[in-house]
Formats: sequence, C-alpha cells, structure tokens
Amino acid sequence: MQYTNFLIGLSSVAVATAAAPPAVTATSSPFKVSVGEDGLTYTPSNIIAPVGTKITFDFYPKNHTVTQSSFADPCHPLAAGGFFSDFNPTKAGTEGNTFTITVEDTKPIWFYCSQTTGSHCQAGMVGAINAKQSGNVTLDAFITLAKNATTSTFPEGGISGGVLSTFSATASSGISLPTYTAASTTLSTFSGTFPGPTSSPTTVETGGASSRSASLFGIAVLFVGAASML
Ligand SMILES: *[C@@H]1O[C@H](CO)[C@@H](O)[C@H](O)[C@H]1NC(C)=O
Ligand SMILES: *[C@@H]1O[C@H](CO)[C@@H](O)[C@H](O)[C@H]1NC(C)=O
Ligand SMILES: *[C@@H]1O[C@H](CO)[C@@H](O)[C@H](O)[C@H]1NC(C)=O
Repeated sequence: MQYTNFLIGLSSVAVATAAAPPAVTATSSPFKVSVGEDGLTYTPSNIIAPVGTKITFDFYPKNHTVTQSSFADPCHPLAAGGFFSDFNPTKAGTEGNTFTITVEDTKPIWFYCSQTTGSHCQAGMVGAINAKQSGNVTLDAFITLAKNATTSTFPEGGISGGVLSTFSATASSGISLPTYTAASTTLSTFSGTFPGPTSSPTTVETGGASSRSASLFGIAVLFVGAASML
C-alpha cells in the first residue's frame, strides 16, 4: 500500500516536470537554435534572451518551420504580426537555411513547427523565448496545450517577421557558411525563389538600404527613359 502510494507520487512528479527543458540563457548574439537536429525539437527550446538578441534558427532535416503563435493557441499562427520562416526542406547530411529574428522586447515569444506531416506541433515541437519559468504561463504549460491541439496551421503569404538566409554550395560536404547579408528584420512579404531541398544558394533577401535604393534608382531611370520616348 505504502509502496503503491510512493509509485503514484513518483509518477505525478514525472508528469509535472517532464515536459519543458531548463531555460538556457543566450550569451551571444546571434544565438543559435537548431531546428530538428535532435528530432522533433528546437535545441534549446526554452530560451532567455536580452532585448536586441538575434536568434538564428538553423534548419536540419526534414522539413520544418518556425512559426510564432500565442501562448493560448499553440499550433496556429498569430492573427497578425507574427514571424514565419516558411517550410525549409533539408536533406540528410546537409545543413539547411537559417531564419533570424530579433528579440524586440521582454514579452514572451511562443513558437512551433507548422509541419502537419507527423503533427510536429502536437508532438511537442514548440519553444519559447523569455517565458516565465514558474506559474501557469510556462513553456511546460504551452507544451501541454500544444499536445492537446486538434489542428495545426501555418500563415498565408510565406515568410514574415524575420530574415531567411541560405547556405553556400559547400553545404553538401556538411561544412557550410551562411551567405547572410540581410540587414532587415521586418521582412513582411516574400517574393523570391524558395530554395529546394538541395542547398544551391538562393538569395532571398539581400537586405540593405543601399541595394534597395539602387533598384529604386534603376526604376527611376526607366521612368525617365520611358517619359523621354513620349
Ligand atoms: C515541406 O512541407 C510542406 C508542408 O507540408 C509541403 O507543402 C512541401 O511540399 C514540403 N517540401 C518538401 C520538399 O518535402
Ligand atoms: C494564470 O493564473 C492566474 C492567477 O491564478 C489567472 O488569473 C490567469 O488567467 C491564468 N492564466 C492562464 C493563461 O491560464
Ligand atoms: C483539450 O482540447 C479539448 C478540445 O478542444 C478541450 O475541450 C479541452 O479543454 C482541452 N484540454 C486542455 C487541458 O487544454
């Protein structure tokens, strides 16, 4: 009898504490989080990061996203303003794309993988930045909510709220360097070519104000040219 009570006590302790790993403080910026390197998980998934920290999500096989949600509604994107890396199919033996967001304030940031093949979100592929470590709004509670979600969806309109960078062609050797040149962290629409499962370099966002003003200048030249033909 006493032994039975002891076992019941042990199992409830295990249920209460098993879900969320301990918090890891981002001691660098950018701070790397690997996506899918250790199975259906972000590593680390419970992140404490000062305002201004850039978080780089590095994609590993198979085909994952990082998608922002609310605490209360895991597995579904924020109604507006959340980030979304889009799907990043990555072949075994290669490193995939990197999606970078910036921590803008101290509010908790909740995220999940939108891959429905294998129900990644419900399988617990979720994470948080600056979540409280005690109380009822913790990563632990978020995981419990995610496991109970009946559906998982992703935002319309492709990548948003961060910068996707691709890897150089040397990725096939397993050693690769990011061709990260973007300066913008507020990309709201995506119109580039989405990289395929191989890691041929595809520039998604070359960022910087200078490249944008250069293309604006090009457009202006075209206008002047067209006007002078009239
Ligand atoms: C990645 O996953 C998305 C969503 O399930 C799917 O539409 C897409 O075809 C997948 N890409 C590859 C290369 O498997
Ligand atoms: C957390 O607990 C507080 C106090 O008990 C309550 O007011 C709040 O609604 C709870 N929040 C959630 C998300 O459950
Ligand atoms: C789990 O989901 C069901 C159906 O959506 C809901 O009724 C129930 O309250 C949820 N349980 C928890 C613990 O969130």
